[in-house]
Amino acid sequence: MRLTTEEQAMEAGEHGPAVAKAMEILVALGEIYGAEELVPVVSVQVAGVSYGNLGQAGLDFLQAWADQGARVVVPTTLNPAGMDLEAWRQLGIPESYARRQLEVIEAYRAMGISASCSCTPYLTGNRPRFAQHLAWSESSAVSYANSVLGARTNREGGPSALAAAITGRTPGYGLHLERNRQATLVVDVKCAPQSWADFGALGYLVGRQSGDAVPYFRFGPAESPGLEELKTLGAAMAASGAVALYHVQSVTPEARLRDVVESQAPNLTIKSLDEGYRALNSPGERVDLVWIGCPHASLVEIEQTASCLNGKELSSRLWVIAGREVIREARARGLIARIEASGGKVVGDACLLGAPLVEMGITSLATNSAKAAFYLRSLQGTQVRFGSLERCVEAAGTGVWPA
Ligand code: F3S
Repeated sequence: MRLTTEEQAMEAGEHGPAVAKAMEILVALGEIYGAEELVPVVSVQVAGVSYGNLGQAGLDFLQAWADQGARVVVPTTLNPAGMDLEAWRQLGIPESYARRQLEVIEAYRAMGISASCSCTPYLTGNRPRFAQHLAWSESSAVSYANSVLGARTNREGGPSALAAAITGRTPGYGLHLERNRQATLVVDVKCAPQSWADFGALGYLVGRQSGDAVPYFRFGPAESPGLEELKTLGAAMAASGAVALYHVQSVTPEARLRDVVESQAPNLTIKSLDEGYRALNSPGERVDLVWIGCPHASLVEIEQTASCLNGKELSSRLWVIAGREVIREARARGLIARIEASGGKVVGDACLLGAPLVEMGITSLATNSAKAAFYLRSLQGTQVRFGSLERCVEAAGTGVWPA
């Protein structure tokens, strides 16, 4: 890999041991993937925040790097933690877990990282522009940044994102290169997805079948997916496959059908979502908790949840999870009060995949997120019901999944 004079100095330790360690990680990664150089990044989003996923070894690693003097040089935000950093007591998070989680956040803060914990940084003040290079970690955010905003990022691991934040650079391979951003699989959608859950089921099915392809979606004339549909679609594809970039005809900025046809890309036709719904639902009717907001909810999703609840009394817990800035705006518009009037909660900072759910007695969840449904069973060992927002709200009202 070609390094500039400054990068060579960083690698040689002239900027201190923390920077040298970061360069060592980036150069090793660049050499594995055949990068020719490092590219400057405008922002970083770091995963590996939830104590449930990091464990003590991860926390020790972060604290040691912070103690060596690691400091970020570009705007850097965090992926969700395992709990709401402010209201964890009210949500019943065990104190022993909370203490460790707060230590993780402290280690990141010591490096100069904003403790804005969200998987939708593009909704909370970090919205990259077309063609800007980033080093983001969270798979759904990577998909959104690449596909919907036209920015350029690979899916970084926690340490490589942190190394990018400390140096302001990332290895230039993969989706940083124009030639790798072309669509390679045409997906014809013939099943007319309506709800956000439908777009999640669609993403789940396509992700499972697309390997390392870059899908190019063609929807029917009546469907023009917006922010919520695209973030749900991308999150599900990134979960069931490893799709970090997709295009939607006439919607996303880099959709170029001509390129696809010229490359004679294969076709995939989706005629039904039934198989997606079947695969993402486990048996069992009881619902302990309904989770809305995976990826973290937008204002529109919070508003729709409040409307769906419409003052209904709940028998199960219902949590809508969102980034802090979105919550502030929702509060100002009176949406939080409407959800709380039913007994629901709007939770900040968290992702339930890293939360101590079983310790909290939560073993059965319902969600309208295909990504959450996909991972909950394997990572948390819980039962999951997956369906539309309306069905989830109904389940929260009765405590059982509607027939
Ligand atoms: Fe975000 Fe966690 Fe879902 S990181 S995308 S809420 S699985």
